Amino acid sequence: MNLIFLGPPGAGKGTQARLLQARRGIPQISTGDILREAIARGSELGRKAKEYVERGNLVPDEVMVEIIAERLAQPDAQEGFVLDGFPRTVAQARSLEELLARQGRRITAVIYFHLPEEKIVQRLSGRLICTRCGAIYHVDHHPPRQLGRCDICGGPLYQRDDDRPEVVRRRLQVYRQETEPLVEFYKERGLLFLVDASQGVEALHQTILRIAGASPEGQEGQAETREARADR
Ligand code: AP5
Repeated sequence: MNLIFLGPPGAGKGTQARLLQARRGIPQISTGDILREAIARGSELGRKAKEYVERGNLVPDEVMVEIIAERLAQPDAQEGFVLDGFPRTVAQARSLEELLARQGRRITAVIYFHLPEEKIVQRLSGRLICTRCGAIYHVDHHPPRQLGRCDICGGPLYQRDDDRPEVVRRRLQVYRQETEPLVEFYKERGLLFLVDASQGVEALHQTILRIAGASPEGQEGQAETREARADR
């Protein structure tokens, strides 16, 4: 199962990708996480990426394509993966297609998380992340049991720098300009599935399993969702 999670910032892509990894063992490949780790370590990649990420701009395509090529070559990504946050431009999508074709692989489905803008802002302004294990919380929708502490590892929680309102505005603008054209790109290839990202975390997880063919109703779910997308 080679999946892409596509959608605006804060739509719940990371939450769902982590859930698929935890429950189905499909590795989550989050380019945002890779960049934030590099920035925290102060590596060469981190130094290159810092300014782009802090301002809500995209890191240049050539840097991102190299990161993904390296990550997809690792042993755990050979049996399937969920790309969370990549591709984000048509150029990245074309490079990914070529890279996978050279390896005799292809994307099986692109899941597009649809969420109205007011909900995006609400989700990002309340998001908390664990500094240690990366678990994702929300002050209202998914609060930690103990204030400021991760339920899973006990690590301290923090708010992402790029979740400040002015950076969120920029990220949304960049999303519309650079990433939204991928909806057409993947629709033309018959790979796009639209999901209503405003439903609860568990309900959305079940929808994604049906689309990915990983639930008993797999094929049926695929047909239904394809129709839902085509009617949009
Ligand atoms: P990245 O980390 O990829 O950020 P993003 O795409 O903007 O997505 P987010 O992580 O903000 O949101 P999400 O959809 O994962 O939502 P989440 O599950 O956390 O990228 C960051 C930056 O890195 C970019 O701006 C760019 O600079 C750079 N970058 C990364 N990839 C790049 C690339 N390919 N090319 C160039 N540059 C790149 O959920 C959000 C909140 O909602 C949480 O609080 C969560 O608890 C809550 N929530 C989730 N689901 C639900 C639900 N169903 N109901 C209620 N609440 C929910």
